[in-house]
Amino acid sequence: MKKILVTGGSGFIGSHVIRLLVNKYPDYLIVNLDKLTYAGNPENLLDIENKSNYKFVKMDITDEAGVFNLFEEYQFDGVIHLAAESHVDRSISNPNEFINTNIVGTLNLLNASRNIWGNEFENKIFYHISTDEVYGSLGDEGFFLETTPYDPRSPYSASKASSDHIVRAYFYTFGLPVKISNCSNNYGSHQFPEKLIPLIINNIKNEKPLPVYGKGENIRDWLWVEDHAKAIDDVFHKGQIGETYNIGGHNEWKNIDLIHLLCDIMDQKLGNSIGKSRELITFVKDRAGHDMRYAIDATKIKDTLGWIPSVTFEQGLKSTVEWYLENQKWMKNVTSGSYLEYYNEQYKQ
Ligand code: NAD
Ligand code: DAU
Repeated sequence: MKKILVTGGSGFIGSHVIRLLVNKYPDYLIVNLDKLTYAGNPENLLDIENKSNYKFVKMDITDEAGVFNLFEEYQFDGVIHLAAESHVDRSISNPNEFINTNIVGTLNLLNASRNIWGNEFENKIFYHISTDEVYGSLGDEGFFLETTPYDPRSPYSASKASSDHIVRAYFYTFGLPVKISNCSNNYGSHQFPEKLIPLIINNIKNEKPLPVYGKGENIRDWLWVEDHAKAIDDVFHKGQIGETYNIGGHNEWKNIDLIHLLCDIMDQKLGNSIGKSRELITFVKDRAGHDMRYAIDATKIKDTLGWIPSVTFEQGLKSTVEWYLENQKWMKNVTSGSYLEYYNEQYKQ
């Protein structure tokens, strides 16, 4: 039995990765290490939590001794590392936690892997999940390639860039069998509603203002989270050691156009008169250092591993909106409590 550690498995992308692996590989033991921060939610994995090939461990990746002991206990064959502080706005108001978790936490996992693997790396993999934000901000033209120089501009992206560099350093210096992927913006079910798409859906449902940063002209490249999870499975099983893979949907949207689209889909779903939700759009103060455009060139993963997105944006967005509307209890649970304090502080005029 292969033993795979997934970190951050109770979060948005991690829960989709865990679901895919637990169902697809019954002969693997999938261990989910998660601190359960505000973004980690055991409800995301209710459907698989009792499977015999799944185990949850509540732990902080910055707890060096705890992480070392866990690796000693399980002798993992592979690590898929997703645990991170992931929201750019929070990194602007409170950078420290991003440095601790994203950099020091990653270092602990690398050291714990070296500690159990020694120099015996056959069939071992340390797979680090990163973001396209490490490449910085694009103008009107061009795409992020795996060879694009790093140019992070927020505390979040700087912490992710730093962890990528350390992971690569462990490959070159110690021979640790690492893989890295850098993905564009994900959307789909179970995403914490501080991120644009679930936030807009939730605010439309509750007839609250729709906050658009600046003029809404910034561009993001959106990928359905289940396609990202499939790409992670492909890179983990078929990707080359020491390589980086960019993952994206070739699906660029200006924020304001995306918000208009969501308003129209929601009006249709809620039986509103067309145009009603657009009236909620409110332009607010821009994000500090707001990156203008992200766009991934995913040719390498397509040509070498055969991965391409499985759904169109239209299909993915429709199923996403339906999921949030059908899972109002989930939404209620995650938007009560401390989220309200964050929301009021972030969007105060
Ligand atoms: P998320 O914020 O939804 O989930 C993060 C998870 O990590 C949560 O379950 C949280 O409890 C856990 N966590 C946080 N700090 C921890 C700590 N110190 N110890 C243990 N667990 C901890 O994030 P997400 O959107 O699912 O992103 C997952 C990963 O993918 C991150 O590394 C992020 O940088 C990367 N990524 C995200 C996107 C995106 O669009 N969301 C795109 C590309 C890459
Ligand atoms: O590109 C990958 C990254 O995508 C991931 O690494 C991050 O973890 C993830 O959070 C995401 O970062 P963004 O900053 O692009 O996502 P966010 O959903 O926060 O914002 C998307 C765009 O929408 C961005 O241009 C800012 C804008 N925005 C966001 C919010 C929350 C608004 O206009 N209003 C809002 O209220």
